[in-house]
Amino acid sequence: MSNVKDMLDKGKIIEKLGQNFEYENIEVYKSIDSTNTELKRRAKIVANHGLTLIAEEQTAGRGRMGRHFYSPANTGIYMSILLKPLIPAEDTLLITTMTSVALCLSIEEHFHKKPVIKWVNDVYMDNKKVSGILTEAVSNAVTGEIEYLIVGIGINYSTGDFPGDIEEIATGIADETSDVDRNTFTATFLKNFWRLFENIYDKSIMEQYKERSMVIGKDIRFLEGKEWTNAHALDIDDVGGLIVRLENGEERVLSTGEISLRLR
Ligand code: BTN
Repeated sequence: MSNVKDMLDKGKIIEKLGQNFEYENIEVYKSIDSTNTELKRRAKIVANHGLTLIAEEQTAGRGRMGRHFYSPANTGIYMSILLKPLIPAEDTLLITTMTSVALCLSIEEHFHKKPVIKWVNDVYMDNKKVSGILTEAVSNAVTGEIEYLIVGIGINYSTGDFPGDIEEIATGIADETSDVDRNTFTATFLKNFWRLFENIYDKSIMEQYKERSMVIGKDIRFLEGKEWTNAHALDIDDVGGLIVRLENGEERVLSTGEISLRLR
């Protein structure tokens, strides 16, 4: 019987992916600095669309806005996926939103719990973050076109002991009663990820994203440069932009950045 503490294993993940699964180009590392950094190194030399790097531990895991992503051994899933088909730069946000939907669907499938998404890409359960996504685009220096995208997903799976302040804001998906091991969960996620990726322009993905949004209808503040601005989150547009109304009545669409919810 498998348990939450099973080590990540390429053979087991592939077995769970089943036959006819196209994206089996998976490598599992015991420890690495960062799967996003390694995938970038690999892509510079030669790497195919779909290459997926997964690690048990990251010693220099990276989050958005230059932050560190806590990536302890044996309890998380740290994964980066290389996407090579040319997509317009304005659609990269769709990839990030689609990835958070894929993660929510995977959690719902195995845990029968309802995770929520904090714009743009953080997945929360019980008011604490269980996953973050860092999408990095590498553009051609001459044409400016996107050469490839690296989608990095950090999942606190059974992670329990967070250091210092992180304890207050992060938690793991699985508790000690869960018997869904990380290999099974990883395979479920990859199946959902590629199914949604292949239908990236399907409007229902954004509907599924919005259904799980913890931001729409809330008072928020957003960071621009070094300044926080108060706003009300009205909706999310078709490409993942957050439509907000400022206190002076002006409406804006945010396409990147940091927001926080304001409690009344
Ligand atoms: C965030 O919450 O700000 C995004 C965190 C993204 C973390 C993942 S873990 C796998 C991949 N490798 C990294 O160094 N970062 C991403």
